[in-house]
Amino acid sequence: MRTVKFGIIGCGLMGREFASAAARWCHLEDIEVKPEIVAVCDMNEKMQEWFKKNFSSVKMFTKDYKDILKNKDVEAVYCALPHNLHEKVYCDIIRAGKHLMGEKPFGIDLKAALNIQKCAKENPEVFIRCSSEYPFIPAMQKLCGMIDAGALGKIIEVNAGFLHSSDMDQTKPINWKRMVEFNGEYGVVGDLGMHPCHVTFKAGWYPKNVRAILSKLVKERPDAKGKMAPCLTWDNATLFCECEEDTNIFPLTLKMQRVAPGEKDTWYYEVLGTKVSVKYSSKNTNSIQIMEYKQGEEQGWQTIDMGQETTFHVISGKIFEFSFSDSLLQMWAAFLYELANGKPKNNFAGCVTLDEVVSSHKLFTAAMESHKTKQTIKVDY
Ligand SMILES: NC(=O)c1ccc[n+]([C@@H]2O[C@H](COP(=O)([O-])OP(=O)(O)OC[C@H]3O[C@@H](n4cnc5c(N)ncnc54)[C@H](O)[C@@H]3O)[C@@H](O)[C@H]2O)c1
Repeated sequence: MRTVKFGIIGCGLMGREFASAAARWCHLEDIEVKPEIVAVCDMNEKMQEWFKKNFSSVKMFTKDYKDILKNKDVEAVYCALPHNLHEKVYCDIIRAGKHLMGEKPFGIDLKAALNIQKCAKENPEVFIRCSSEYPFIPAMQKLCGMIDAGALGKIIEVNAGFLHSSDMDQTKPINWKRMVEFNGEYGVVGDLGMHPCHVTFKAGWYPKNVRAILSKLVKERPDAKGKMAPCLTWDNATLFCECEEDTNIFPLTLKMQRVAPGEKDTWYYEVLGTKVSVKYSSKNTNSIQIMEYKQGEEQGWQTIDMGQETTFHVISGKIFEFSFSDSLLQMWAAFLYELANGKPKNNFAGCVTLDEVVSSHKLFTAAMESHKTKQTIKVDY
């Protein structure tokens, strides 16, 4: 069993999720590589406390991420920082020769993402992937398998999105995710956009052009002192895209929303095809809907319940239900599997690559321009 020693930079929401996944690595079977967290960094010392309490493997606690990069024990870094820091910190990690799992969107804008890509090209020995966990849900892996097998026939349309209600409450205090200087001009597009793009790009569906409509629904929010602060990020976005597969042109609609009535944290993916149509929504995370069209016969959706039929085998019985933290464990297994084996288990069992990330930034940048000019914008990859 190979052990990859990790440093974590950013001990907030996502930093802790990775540590928790690493702590139950024994849940996975048949994987010849495992992570060990040996160093953590957060500029806010209070955020390190949870790691001190729970992880005896951590020998370095620091406020300065450069200490992690100088640490010879650290082979790989998971970086989960606000978006304004991605470019500088990711480039420093790559130049230090540490493998990187970086959080989306990999830079506050296209320029930042391109700079990270340039650093990566100068350091080809470093393995770099972007975090995105939803496609690792077994029902989604089944859907992806159907795309891979060409089982759907000619694509009629694809609809994908990520819908939150996290900002429905207008009295919720402002945080960095609602501030342009930390979150970026993209707002919700950069924040949630990678999630619906992940499967779309792995399927080879790169939008040729985009017409986007963005909304700023909440213009101010209370700050830490109880005063009202301007909230300048985009809350919701809909991207209408034109895709092509084997000369067949079809529409792709991507939705990213933080103000989505009735949606807690819904990630969905639908592909309608001439032979078979498939739908997945994290609202019913363990099921997939499939409809096979048979010439002249009645149409009826079939709902298939799935359990722990995971890509990376686990000790759980197959009938036990799957959850969000299970998808993170699968994503981390995919990262380490590819790091150790030099290739993913299959096309859709790989984490998001840097080229896919840069493509997402090109699409998002075109979406911004489309909203501004009210025009359809061509996307060049
Ligand atoms: N994959 C997902 O599902 C998912 C979900 C949420 C967030 N994210 C992404 O994860 C990243 C972090 O988001 P989060 O929700 O964990 O944020 P968070 O605010 O919970 O955590 C960020 C942490 O970074 C620390 N920090 C800030 N500046 C620092 C610096 N210069 N040096 C060291 N530490 C510093 C903060 O103190 C904080 O603890 C973002 O890129 C976000 O888009 C991904």
